Amino acid sequence: RPRAFSGIQPTAGSFHLGNYLGAIRQYVALQETHDAFYSVVDLHAVTVPQDPAELRANSRLAAAQLLAAGLDPERCTLFVQSHVPEHAQLAWLMNCITGFGEASRMTQFKDKSARHGADQATVGLFTYPMLMVADILLYDADAVPVGEDQRQHLELTRNLAERFNSRFGATFKVPEPHILKEVAKIYDLQDPSVKMSKSASTPKGLVNLLDEPKATAKKFKSAVTDTDTEIRFDAEAKPGVSNLLTIYSTLTGAGIPELEQKYAGKGYGALKTDLAEVMVEFVTPFRERTQAYLDDPETLDSILAKGAEKARTVASETLAQAYDRVGFVPAK
Ligand code: TYM
Repeated sequence: RPRAFSGIQPTAGSFHLGNYLGAIRQYVALQETHDAFYSVVDLHAVTVPQDPAELRANSRLAAAQLLAAGLDPERCTLFVQSHVPEHAQLAWLMNCITGFGEASRMTQFKDKSARHGADQATVGLFTYPMLMVADILLYDADAVPVGEDQRQHLELTRNLAERFNSRFGATFKVPEPHILKEVAKIYDLQDPSVKMSKSASTPKGLVNLLDEPKATAKKFKSAVTDTDTEIRFDAEAKPGVSNLLTIYSTLTGAGIPELEQKYAGKGYGALKTDLAEVMVEFVTPFRERTQAYLDDPETLDSILAKGAEKARTVASETLAQAYDRVGFVPAK
């Protein structure tokens, strides 16, 4: 079986619809075809200030949501990044083969450091992409399911894998991004020119999976469309409507042409009302399942402990090989 790896940050409160459609759904699908490893990346989270109690709660909440979304601990390996020290250890080697200028060109660092103020940005935020590279390379991943915003980090991963291999001998698999075009970028419901995100979206444009279903329905009913009335997929001319059609199509399995036909001659109101209903049907059981995992922290923690053990078996072997190639004295 080919390998898959992906990581997701333990964000405050809830994952949003962009995380789910762009990434988490693909995690769920790939457990059927791949030997899949998924990590709640708490080491990445501390690149910006975190309240310790909240971070701990958010990491468990992230794991609970991933399980509620359909990750099955019998079919994939789910773990918390800080439980597997090899991530930080391999990241060091990656830091040491990355050019300062190369790291400076990472657009997500530029965006985030601009947002936090250049003086507030930590060295950890700067070296974040090399930690992500280490995450992926430790598992010899073939496929890395992510949204469009991670593409540049995947290119860096490929470059560093090739660089290490050519300098020290074949060690790492060079991974491929697994980015599904249709859902690679889900947009803000109020401003369909920007991607849905915790940091950039307005509260009304951001769909949190764990929000009250009624509040979520309301957001869809007041989603921004355009002054035209035609329900047609056209990402350039009709970004708002197209975003709604993408969400609708992905959640129900109905094709876009089918939806265009279904709503031909009907107003935007009908589309929004139906989509609000589709969302409510999706998030209601999702919230319940998440809560059930949170209500049983022992089971949750034991799933994560088993996951970490499995992950370490693979990660420690890869790290040992990389250490050996670099010329470190064996620690026997
Ligand atoms: P993160 O935690 O910001 O986001 C998790 C996943 O959600 C995707 N995503 C979206 N997809 C479509 N539309 C959107 N609006 C949208 N917003 C977010 C992201 O692309 C991502 O796949 N650096 C990563 C975490 C990470 C990682 C890794 C990923 C750490 N190590 C190794 C893959 C492999 C991040 O911050 O994602």
